[in-house]
Amino acid sequence: MKGGFLLKTLPQYALGIAHGKIILMGEHSVVYGEPAIALPFPAVEIQAKTTNNKGPVTVESFYYSGTLNEVPSLLENIKAVIEKTCHTLDQAVENFNIFIESSIPPQRGMGSSAAVSAAIVRSLYNFFEEPLSYEKLLELTDVGERIAHGNPSGLDAKATTSTDAVYFENGNDFSYMSIDMEAYLIVADSGEIGNTKETVQAVKNLLEKFPEDTEEIIHKLGDLVTYAKDAIDFKDPRTLGTLMSKAHHYLKKLTVSNETLDHLTETAIQNGAIGAKLTGGGRGGCMIALSENKEDAKKIAEALEDAGAIQTWVHSLKMGEL
Ligand code: MEV
Repeated sequence: MKGGFLLKTLPQYALGIAHGKIILMGEHSVVYGEPAIALPFPAVEIQAKTTNNKGPVTVESFYYSGTLNEVPSLLENIKAVIEKTCHTLDQAVENFNIFIESSIPPQRGMGSSAAVSAAIVRSLYNFFEEPLSYEKLLELTDVGERIAHGNPSGLDAKATTSTDAVYFENGNDFSYMSIDMEAYLIVADSGEIGNTKETVQAVKNLLEKFPEDTEEIIHKLGDLVTYAKDAIDFKDPRTLGTLMSKAHHYLKKLTVSNETLDHLTETAIQNGAIGAKLTGGGRGGCMIALSENKEDAKKIAEALEDAGAIQTWVHSLKMGEL
């Protein structure tokens, strides 16, 4: 080594990370104040890297590379989050570039919109070397979610930034849950794009058209979540599986499933799953199934791929096991 001393390597960028999420129970009904359970899904994540770059703010991502001012409407949420975060930090919106890299499949109910906002907020706070409170992170993530989803419950923002499962109730209160059960969640991406804004609106329309019936379904979904929490506390995967399948039945009634998701949930059950349902916004996106052991989980994942799922993951619900 020339000169005989080590050169200190300064960080090349300010990093922000957020991961995917899986809603175990309670999607859609959570928008109306019913409880929900969501899990962090670290198998997929989004990284935002901010670097110095003289001039107008630029964004580099799979979808778009260019100035922030010219982002396509699909990325309006990102623009709003960057501007609001800079405003909150009392910084000018200039002289940096944000590079966004994601392994979360977009528009599949895995929380990609909340995760991208959260990753950007974390990255910008790191870049400007300011401490970030969890409340502020959620508040700023919500700015992007309002654009992406219209009327977000806030569940996605919490689940994509938490390391524990989140139990969400009464429209805003949340607590962390530890899940430690001899069971495996099989997550399958149908490959079809779902649009959460559209499905949330579809449920709203249904409520306006058939208020009594729709309210009843929403309450029933909420009750299933409460029972699911008990099943988790009692480490009872069979009951949890039954509740998941029941939830799928009611989500179908809310018109947020589709033929592909129904087919994948049936395939999972036929191949030994003890429960299966769609997860997230629906009408595309992902579904989940439950099994009591890893061998069954692998078999179910294979069957789901044979039935058309473009990607599957097996996620252990046993603490500490990957
Ligand atoms: C989307 O991942 C979950 C929904 O319940 C919407 C929300 O909670 O904001 C469908």
